[in-house]
Amino acid sequence: MTELIYLKNSYQKELSTNIVAITPKGDHYEIELEKTIAYPQGGGQPCDKGEIIGSKGKLIFTHVRLTHDRVLHEGKVTGTLHPRENVKVAIDWNTRVNNMRIHSAGHVIHEVIMETIPGLTPVKGEHSKQKFIEYEGTINPKLLETLEKRSNMLIASNQEIKTEIVTLSELQKRSRWVPLHLPKNKPLRIMQIGGYPPIPDGGTQVATTSEIGIIAITQIEQIGPNVRVHYSVQEISEFAKSNAESVPSISLEEFKLRLTQLQMEIFALLKLTTADELETLHVKFFGSNGKASKIIKLIRGLSISQRRLGGLAVNSFKQNVEDKFRESRSQKQEKAGARFDISLPGTPPPQGHLHIVSQAIFEITRIFERIGFTRVRHPEVDWDWYAFESLNMPPNHPARDEWETFFVEREKSKVFIGISGSHTFDASDKYGKIQNTKFSKMVLTPHTSNGQVREMEKGKLPIRMINIAKCYRRQSDVSHVPMFHQFEGMYIDKNVSIGHLKGVMDYFFKQYYGPERKSRLRPFHFQFTEPSFEVDINCGVCLGKVRLPGGKTCKLCKDGWLELGGSGMVHPAVLQNGGIDPDVYSGFAFGWGIERVAMMKSGTQLDDIRLLYSNDLRFLEQF
Ligand code: FA5
Repeated sequence: MTELIYLKNSYQKELSTNIVAITPKGDHYEIELEKTIAYPQGGGQPCDKGEIIGSKGKLIFTHVRLTHDRVLHEGKVTGTLHPRENVKVAIDWNTRVNNMRIHSAGHVIHEVIMETIPGLTPVKGEHSKQKFIEYEGTINPKLLETLEKRSNMLIASNQEIKTEIVTLSELQKRSRWVPLHLPKNKPLRIMQIGGYPPIPDGGTQVATTSEIGIIAITQIEQIGPNVRVHYSVQEISEFAKSNAESVPSISLEEFKLRLTQLQMEIFALLKLTTADELETLHVKFFGSNGKASKIIKLIRGLSISQRRLGGLAVNSFKQNVEDKFRESRSQKQEKAGARFDISLPGTPPPQGHLHIVSQAIFEITRIFERIGFTRVRHPEVDWDWYAFESLNMPPNHPARDEWETFFVEREKSKVFIGISGSHTFDASDKYGKIQNTKFSKMVLTPHTSNGQVREMEKGKLPIRMINIAKCYRRQSDVSHVPMFHQFEGMYIDKNVSIGHLKGVMDYFFKQYYGPERKSRLRPFHFQFTEPSFEVDINCGVCLGKVRLPGGKTCKLCKDGWLELGGSGMVHPAVLQNGGIDPDVYSGFAFGWGIERVAMMKSGTQLDDIRLLYSNDLRFLEQF
């Protein structure tokens, strides 16, 4: 097993170690060492190049690969090398630095994407000649510029890139997303950019983001269900040139003072400048040799730990000055009688984002799609038969009371049915024969279980559906709204058992909430499942403690637990109503509230569900 020194220190250029084995490979040789600083190809990152130098010969390696915990360095040997011989390993530093910059750039762009478009699932990354990161999902290509700008801002803010070795459970606690294939009992290497959540990673990384240089996002390409974000990184020669000028060290206080003095100077000059002179003044300060540009460059003289604060000071300085230039421009033009200057940049419209409930719908859909469930849609205004009767709840059955249902009044035979793009049809035409029996009353669906028999009627088995729709009940309090969303999962096949139901639930909880939240199954009763359970999760506001830090009782849960929804094994009578033989097939179903599921996610400290639909931007902008 080769000791991987590059995992602990990406900046070690040379190493003294012993040869373990030398194996001929055509006209080349492969050398295994006790330890190595050379990165073997993998994880989308190319390998290092370099030399292994002995007392009587050397190997110039051009390829390095990892196989069964052994790192093999391949190349041509000149002179002679022997097993157990002590050798010096030296890596080609330019190749290493370039690979590190490209790799770390991919991570920076990834963090920006995760922040800008939450809920995408990472698939893979390539950080070699081709440079891209791939996700399951979609990214609007119009976001290209925003992502590029935010990535370069993150790079400029000079965040530290840390690597460390942790256990899987520690990673699960700290990370936003953990791939499924990670080994359980091995130490894991992680990387972390500034305060962003850590990510498992085995590659080489630069120590601070400013070592990456400028990046460009070159294309956002949709490939079937996946999206690739292609990028490029400033050539190393250009990067080296821009970093070549040495800068004297400066304290943060001094740096901030220089910016403040400059800001005062610019503000004073703006008062004395005419409309025509404004652009010249701007170039004088912000042109490549301008006074402002020179002072901003001094940021490289700050200590590494202070550069982030320096970056923030520069951002606020630029913002203040640009605002003042804009204000001064319009004031002077007004005075000069000009109405408006069409060459001025417009005010960008505020950028919206998906509602927290839509975000949850996308995330939940993707989680279930990964284990073979397909999202289906069924009417949200439906026959009483599908919402109740086919589910073992005949008219006047007391179990119906739970659902506090809205019934739809309709003209004699005309009904309005459907979800979006609804249409009207004559009920007596389509269901003439059976009217007044199965298809007599219509309801605003009080739950997504109306989709159970409808899905069975499609006649395709096995069924793995995830039905997400709006539901309506005459309820309104801190944990109920009259219109809400449910997602209904149903799996029907031969030999489906409660074990499968528990497995799917555990999978969902781990994926959606992370391993630290607790859940429990409580025996319950539903007319349409037998046996039935309710699924609870510990409260995300008080974390199950009931008392809040100020001593108040948690308003949301009262006993530390919150009900997410119901589940159980599909009742044989329901299978029969859907035309499925219960002696051959069995299945499970579950139906949970999307709002509750989203509210229970850590960090979403909502204690009143009605806030979700209050349309208050101050609240909605937070998610
Ligand atoms: C049902 O609706 C069953 N159809 C669930 C089911 C499906 C059981 C399949 C078995 C098999 P229940 O009435 O408990 O169950 O509602 C399920 C979840 O919907 C609730 O736990 C809650 O999360 C959500 N919910 C119900 N009413 C409201 C409401 N008014 N506002 C917000 N969420 C609600």
